[in-house]
Amino acid sequence: MDYNGLYFASRDKLCEDAYNLATEANRAALLTTGNGYMGMCASLEGNKMPDMPLELIFGNYVAWKYDEKTWIISFMDGTEFIYLLEGDRYALLTDTGYGVNDLRGFVEKLTDKEVLVINTHYHPDHSAGNGQWTSVMLSEGWKVDAPSVELPGAGPYDLSAYPHPDYEKKIMHDGDTIDLGGRIIKVLEALPAHCNSSLFLIDEDHRILITGDEYECSQTLMYDNSKNPDAPYNVEKRIDNLRANAVRLKNLMGEDIRAWKLLPNHNGTPVSTEYLDEYIGLCDAIYAGTAVIEDKLGHRFIEMDPVAPELCRVRYMHCSIFIKKAEVMKIYGTRA
Ligand SMILES: [Fe+2]
Repeated sequence: MDYNGLYFASRDKLCEDAYNLATEANRAALLTTGNGYMGMCASLEGNKMPDMPLELIFGNYVAWKYDEKTWIISFMDGTEFIYLLEGDRYALLTDTGYGVNDLRGFVEKLTDKEVLVINTHYHPDHSAGNGQWTSVMLSEGWKVDAPSVELPGAGPYDLSAYPHPDYEKKIMHDGDTIDLGGRIIKVLEALPAHCNSSLFLIDEDHRILITGDEYECSQTLMYDNSKNPDAPYNVEKRIDNLRANAVRLKNLMGEDIRAWKLLPNHNGTPVSTEYLDEYIGLCDAIYAGTAVIEDKLGHRFIEMDPVAPELCRVRYMHCSIFIKKAEVMKIYGTRA
């Protein structure tokens, strides 16, 4: 079965075009994808590949407009997001997903501008598709997180099979800007918190802040997920960095902060900048010993990770993190 035609974009003629591209069999399969993500998890539970084709989970792209020049692209059954920011000359694609199906072809139907590509960070669901392009901007920290993408079996893909497996890695530094033509995107390097390679992308004119996986409305993963035994991890440093990044971003947005929106990569977008305050509160509550520690993760996918028995959810107001319980308890209540 050929799934290359399975492209959907709501609120646009692209939706109709995509549907017409799909074969009858594909359309029928599409009707079953509503619970595809859960289906994948259920199948992994049995330690076998799901009956449903992986392309329908990892590479079923949907796009809609956030504003006149900003597209949101979702995949993973609508739980994960990529952004496409259009300027007068270029469009900037933030992340490349798992690299399943023809994301590049999908994006080039959304914009007629030359597409530049940047990774919010070097994790498999954000950068495994880089090889569909000849050049990708990313953080220097990609080297530390590289095993999470490149180890055999790290994801449902074959990196060597992409058109440009040796694509150019263009290292971005704190304060760099990307001029898309009438639209400037500022790049900030995050202090390592969720991972070692995060970049924040700031668009002052559109008042949007792309946070990668560092802040989201469900939970930020704060345990080492680099698959690199040499990656540095210190729990106090990570929590302090999570807080310091939030303070820096808040200061950058200034008094106008409530007019801004956070655009995270998972579970909901756009979300209120209030989450930055709550993440700051969460860090403080850990040290104060007042954050709520929950042993039940309530996340079916993470619960299947071999590391899950070591994890807990730490909650404060509407935000939370997943972290190794033994690690977070080293600092819990130490500044009460
Ligand atoms: Fe991540």
